[in-house]
Amino acid sequence: MKILPIENLRGVIEIPGDKSISHRSIIFSSLADTPVEIENFLNGADCLSTVACMKSFGADIKIDGDKVFVKGNGLHGLREPENVLDAGNSGTTLRLLLGLAAPQNFITTFTGDSSLRQRPMGRVIKPLTEMGASIVGRNENKNLPITVIPATSYPLPPTFYPLKSITYQMPVASAQVKSAIILAGLYADGITTIIEPAPSRDHTEKMLSAFGVRIEKVGDAVKVYPAENLTAPKKITVPNDISSAAYWIVLATVLKNSAVTIKNVGVNQTRTGILDVMKEMGAQIELENLRESGGELSADIKVTSSKLRGVEIGGAIIPRLIDEVPALAVAAAFAEGTTIIHDVGELRVKESDRLKAIADEFNKISAGSFETTATDLIIHGGLKKTYAECKTYADHRIAMALSIFGAASEGVEIDDADCVKISYPNFFERLAVRF
Ligand code: S3P
Repeated sequence: MKILPIENLRGVIEIPGDKSISHRSIIFSSLADTPVEIENFLNGADCLSTVACMKSFGADIKIDGDKVFVKGNGLHGLREPENVLDAGNSGTTLRLLLGLAAPQNFITTFTGDSSLRQRPMGRVIKPLTEMGASIVGRNENKNLPITVIPATSYPLPPTFYPLKSITYQMPVASAQVKSAIILAGLYADGITTIIEPAPSRDHTEKMLSAFGVRIEKVGDAVKVYPAENLTAPKKITVPNDISSAAYWIVLATVLKNSAVTIKNVGVNQTRTGILDVMKEMGAQIELENLRESGGELSADIKVTSSKLRGVEIGGAIIPRLIDEVPALAVAAAFAEGTTIIHDVGELRVKESDRLKAIADEFNKISAGSFETTATDLIIHGGLKKTYAECKTYADHRIAMALSIFGAASEGVEIDDADCVKISYPNFFERLAVRF
């Protein structure tokens, strides 16, 4: 697909529901005793992988556009899947459901697509194993396919908790790993404590609280108590996805004569690193109509064209913008001066090696702009931009970042536009494209 250069971006931009929150809404609703209606669900491929897996665990799930009706069988009522569960491209599906499968009294085997089969799963298998789970991966790196074996022999006495509660110090900040341990912790014999090096997104904690789970943040630790059941709200409204908004925030900032409003965007402070950094770079971003629903904050985001300057960031802000780094790299390429983004080694184990994708493909549009080390990204702003043919590595966020980069430059051709369906099925509607 060819993305043509565009002059400006104006008006209201519709973006889809939040991916992280959509996944959790399906999983937790499937564990409740009463039916739940989900509104503004992200109908993207990743969340549909979660739907398919939860159906295999026995949940009744009906999708009608962006509404979903879920009826589960309770926290202790999961059914044994008849077949291997396919998490597709979705790390969130796989890692959260490993935590859910660990305490069950049946065997679950997971697989996924060629990207997910290469991604590290030891980071989630290790704490679950410490809790007493029995999990085997394909090789010493614990890659997919992965089989979860009942931790103990059944039938169990009624007051038996299948897993041990642990205190776990996570080596990397990861909401997926944290959420897996929290889910397993619901079935543990005491309080499970998780300590993160820096706070990652806390949608699991917020939504499980809304489902009646006792879960507390104490300093840099999260403590989860075992649960008998989940008391679901009747309705969950998913805010729009700030990770999807990021492409338009960057594009409207770097194009001249642009002003956009993106409505109803989730602005949970564990996700708003992109806003903080763009503002520090000089972007004019305003939040209006701040409101709260189900523990999650949302707002309308207004962005206007701005002159940007390079910044240096790293440390605790990184988990708050980890998925937005490709978009941020595009913004930095239009800034005056150099931007240094430290501590982003995690990008090497996302849907693709995103640091390599940026170094190899973004430099085709602006030669010499992007340098990488094992863990850092350095962007020299203001260099010449040209038309280029680029590879997406079948990674939705690389595809979208390349698209806005091309749209703000001399155009770009990407080899795989279809991969955006993972998180943003109608992404190309606002760009000038040629198939
Ligand atoms: C996610 C957590 C992050 C993020 C991913 C979604 C989640 O991954 O990159 O896109 O929904 O929990 P990590 O937990 O691996 O950092």
